[in-house]
Formats: sequence, structure tokens, C-alpha cells
Amino acid sequence: MGKIIRAGVSFPEELLKSFDEIVEELNLGSRSRGIQEAMRTFISLNAWRLPENQEVAGAILIHYSHEERGLDEKLIDIQHEFLDIIPSMMHIHLSEDSCLQIIVVRGRASKVRELIKELRRVGRLKQLNHLLIPTC
Ligand code: NI
Repeated sequence: MGKIIRAGVSFPEELLKSFDEIVEELNLGSRSRGIQEAMRTFISLNAWRLPENQEVAGAILIHYSHEERGLDEKLIDIQHEFLDIIPSMMHIHLSEDSCLQIIVVRGRASKVRELIKELRRVGRLKQLNHLLIPTC
């Protein structure tokens, strides 16, 4: 770990109160550790915005209804176009009509961004999230 720097930051009271409750619930030991973890999550969530040659790994989560006509097929078609950055995919049938796909991705941030854009373009999804970490 590198040098530790102290920084003075301001927070709305309610935000800090909610934050401290979570820090305690997670048993993180100190507010500083909680903030460090929150910052890492923030960086991970936005890693795909980094320079084009950035390599990333992580997952894209898609929640959708398979009763939406053609949606299953469309999502799979797109994944076949990006097979070089998708080492694996998991499909979980959550209920009679609800599905969760977890697409594992690894590769150039720019390519992953392109995949996310294509998946969003399909529309009619209940939710699409991603969590990526820089790998170099
Ligand atoms: Ni399903």
C-alpha cells in the first residue's frame, strides 16, 4: 500500500449518519476504511470510462422478462458478437417469467463499453448493471 494522505471532506449530516450505520453493520472498524472501500467501489463502477487501452474484468447483470417477445434471443445474439470478451455467462430463472443473466466480461474497456451500449439498445430490460475492475 502507498503513502496515506489525510483529507478534510464535508458531508451532509444525514448522509454521514447513514454511512456510519453501514460501516458499523459491515464491521469495517473505522469511517476511514468505509470511505476507502466506497471510493474503490466508485472507481470500479466507473472504470470503463478510463482510457481506451484500459483492460477490465467484471460482470454485467441483466434482469428481464423472458415473456417479452424475442428478448432472450436478441440478448444471446449480441453476446455472440462479443465472444472475444465474454468468457462465461450464467442464466438464472428467477420466477416463471423473470430471468437474470450474469455476463462475465474481460477485455478492453472500450469493447466492454460497446457491449453495454448494444445491450441497452435492446430496451425493455427491467435492469442492467455492471461492475468492472481495472486489471492493469
Ligand atoms: Ni430464464
